[in-house]
Amino acid sequence: MDQDDPGEAMAELQDRHFGGLGILQVAAGTSLLAYAVWAGLLMPGFRKVPLRLQVPYVPASRKQVDNVMRLLQGRSGKMVDLGSGDGRIVLAAYRQGFCPVVGYELNPWLLQLSRFHAWRAGCAQKVSYQKKDLWKVNLADCKNITVFLAPSVLHLLENKLLEELPNETRVISGRFPLPNWEPTATVGEGLDKVWAYDIGDIRQNMETRATAFLQGTPVI
Ligand SMILES: C[S@@+](CC[C@H](N)C(=O)[O-])C[C@H]1O[C@@H](n2cnc3c(N)ncnc32)[C@H](O)[C@@H]1O
Ligand SMILES: *[C@@H]1O[C@H](CO)[C@@H](O)[C@H](O)[C@H]1NC(C)=O
Ligand SMILES: *[C@@H]1O[C@H](CO)[C@@H](O)[C@H](O)[C@H]1NC(C)=O
Repeated sequence: MDQDDPGEAMAELQDRHFGGLGILQVAAGTSLLAYAVWAGLLMPGFRKVPLRLQVPYVPASRKQVDNVMRLLQGRSGKMVDLGSGDGRIVLAAYRQGFCPVVGYELNPWLLQLSRFHAWRAGCAQKVSYQKKDLWKVNLADCKNITVFLAPSVLHLLENKLLEELPNETRVISGRFPLPNWEPTATVGEGLDKVWAYDIGDIRQNMETRATAFLQGTPVI
């Protein structure tokens, strides 16, 4: 090839250009595919949930479920699991005497699976699974709540819980603690660790700190 021929140089440039475009197209294709897999298989039902709030499904271990239930001992009545997955916490809560028990979940496959598990366990009338975005459910009448979500959303959850929950509520968080709150109790170690928070105590704590701050003696 004659390097000085402007026509050929142009053609080569165009070739390269198209080569570049091709790579771009392949890249766009793969990320589109990755997105399709994410949206269609891994996170179906989450189309309206902002990406930063999407928490993937990871089932609680048996030990983790036991630990959650230990921190709810002595309580009864209604219980709610935020992001109920395959429904294992909901069923365990029912077996421990909570009734009714509600699980909120957006993934339609997990909802089907949890309804199947409830039917097989013979308590389809006592537990329910609702296809609702947990960020949009009003929690004002919930006094027993469990969550197992990702650390990236837990500070937002703290705000939501403080705004909506009554003082009598106990919140149990599995695997990850709520980042700014002082737990009332914990059980377990490592991946199975579970934290309990009593909303009245959390509010009291915040008031004490605020007062101390205003008086110039901050509590560390
Ligand atoms: C880490 S898994 C825990 C599942 C179950 N609670 C357990 O402990 O086995 C979190 C679950 O929350 C669900 N989830 C995440 N964001 C949600 C939202 N905004 N509304 C409802 N469910 C949500 C996910 O689909 C997933 O099943
Ligand atoms: C949650 O637990 C408390 C304490 O046992 C109980 O009084 C209450 O009925 C339960 N459920 C609700 C919705 O408050
Ligand atoms: C909840 O507890 C806080 C802190 O003790 C208290 O200031 C507040 O008045 C309580 N709210 C209700 C409705 O009792």
